Amino acid sequence: MRRADANAGYLGVFFLGADPYVYFYLSNGNNAVSMKALNRGQPIMRPTKGTGGVRDPTIIVGGGKEEGRKWYIIGTDLHIGKTSWDAAQRQGSKGIFIWESTDLINWVNERLVVVEDSSAGMVWAPEAIWDPAKEQYLVHWASKFYPTSDPRHTGSPSNIRIRYAYTSDFKTFSSPQTLIDKSPTNIIDLTFLPLDSSGKNFVRFMKDETKKTVFAEVSTTGLFGTWTRPGGNDAIIQSGVEGPTAYLDNQDAKKVHLLLDHYGGDGYRPYESLNPGSNSGWVASGRGQWPANLRHGSVLPVNGTLYEALRKKWGT
Ligand SMILES: *[C@@H]1O[C@H](CO)[C@@H](O)[C@H](O)[C@H]1NC(C)=O
Repeated sequence: MRRADANAGYLGVFFLGADPYVYFYLSNGNNAVSMKALNRGQPIMRPTKGTGGVRDPTIIVGGGKEEGRKWYIIGTDLHIGKTSWDAAQRQGSKGIFIWESTDLINWVNERLVVVEDSSAGMVWAPEAIWDPAKEQYLVHWASKFYPTSDPRHTGSPSNIRIRYAYTSDFKTFSSPQTLIDKSPTNIIDLTFLPLDSSGKNFVRFMKDETKKTVFAEVSTTGLFGTWTRPGGNDAIIQSGVEGPTAYLDNQDAKKVHLLLDHYGGDGYRPYESLNPGSNSGWVASGRGQWPANLRHGSVLPVNGTLYEALRKKWGT
């Protein structure tokens, strides 16, 4: 496990159910499951492009020459209050929102980058991870596709699969390919957790959108290695949840936190495990200091300098 003991707290980046904007939360001290809203609960970012709404915001840590000096926030271009779930999957946005920062405080260069062509019904829940083998960012998202004989997307689409592309700058992307296809099962909300800096050991969590469950797979052979589902093909962590996001504990090098979005209820609830590469053994964390109604986002461990800068800028 990666040593993370220099970190002093956590920055949470979420959207809220009816409010598809980017909200920041900061941990109370170095407690991984205790958060308070920054900016008096007002959004940090409101999109000015696309649908005007952003869901599933995720914060991405710079890699390579951007390590320690660049962060990106990317998210889904969707304002569900202005459309329907059916229309959003037939004629939804083919782009992803992107903002960037060199200090976590100033977020600039909002853009909406189209990553799929018109055969896609939507581009949902984009995330990215620095791929040390490729020395670029691996960006991934969930899409379904309509045949060319159905240009208006009125008929039946493919299953939903995970697509990916590479980028060095979140401006230009390689042409997309399929990363995970469990046809006929629909898969959305993929997220990766590196277990160390070897570039080999990863856990990935995703949602089975057919059965409405979240489960984990593990690889010891890299991002494009062999992935296995601990416990077998029916093993799950939890049902009735989505939007998994995982982060290492700052103080206990063995502990991993996993947020699961109870989308039919009060949003994200924290879970924890000492054995993250497993579908069993995740236990609910105490929620006494965990805010209700946070939706699909991500959490970034931050050092004392960054923690203080965030608190000074937006704290109360
Ligand atoms: C905290 O992280 C920032 C960004 O990587 C870095 O510039 C700064 O030097 C770090 N502070 C400490 C005390 O390590």
